[in-house]
Amino acid sequence: MEKTIERTFVMIKPDGVQRGLIGEILKRFESAGLKIVGLKMVKATKNMVEEFYPKDKEWFETIGQKTTKAYQEAGLSIQETFGTTNLEEIGKIIKKWLVDFIVSGPVVAMVLEGNHAIMKVRNIVGYTDPFAAAPGTIRGDLTTDSIALGNIMARAVVNVIHASSSQKDAEKEISIWFEKKELMSYKRCDEDIILGRFLK
Ligand code: TYD
Repeated sequence: MEKTIERTFVMIKPDGVQRGLIGEILKRFESAGLKIVGLKMVKATKNMVEEFYPKDKEWFETIGQKTTKAYQEAGLSIQETFGTTNLEEIGKIIKKWLVDFIVSGPVVAMVLEGNHAIMKVRNIVGYTDPFAAAPGTIRGDLTTDSIALGNIMARAVVNVIHASSSQKDAEKEISIWFEKKELMSYKRCDEDIILGRFLK
C-alpha cells in the first residue's frame, strides 16, 4: 500500500445517531473519496470508552486548555463551573462527562481508508467546539452546541463525531473497536485516478 494511504477511526456519537445524521455523514466521507473498510453500530460499555479516550496528563491538560480558551472567549468563570483552574483536573471532569455521553446510546463505528486519511477526515470533521468550527465541516454545519454551553450544563459538548488525530491514535482506536476480520479489502472504482493508473 502507498505510504500516504492511511486508515483512520471515526465514530458517530449518540447525538449524530439519534438525529438521523448517519447517512449525511457517510455521504460526506464517501464523496470525498474515502473508502469505508469497516462499519458497525455499537452500544459501548463504560470500560471500553474509558480505555478509548486517553488518560495521560498531557491529554487532560489539552482538554483543560481548550475549555479554558472557550470560557475566556465567552466571558465565563472556569472556577465557578469546575471549582478549580487546574487544567488536568478540568480535563478529568470532562472525561467523566464524555464517557457518560458516549455510553448513553448506540454509536456508529467505522474505519476509513484513503490518501492522507487521518488529516483529511479531521479537516472534514472540523474543530472540537462546534461554535468555532468552520462552515462546511461536519461540526460546523450540523450542530449549534458549544463547549461553553456544555460545560455550564455539566455535560460533554455534543459535537456529533469523533475522528483519530494521529497515526498512533488511529492504530490504537481501530484495535479497540474492530477485530482484524471485520476490516475489508476491496477496490473503489475511482482509486485508479488518484493512484496514477489513468483509465485508457
Ligand atoms: P479533544 O480530543 O480535545 O477533541 P476532538 O474530539 O476534536 O479530537 O476532545 C475529545 C472530546 O472531549 C471532544 O470531542 C468533546 C469532549 N470535550 C467536551 O465535552 N468539553 C470540552 O470542553 C472539551 C475541550 C472537549
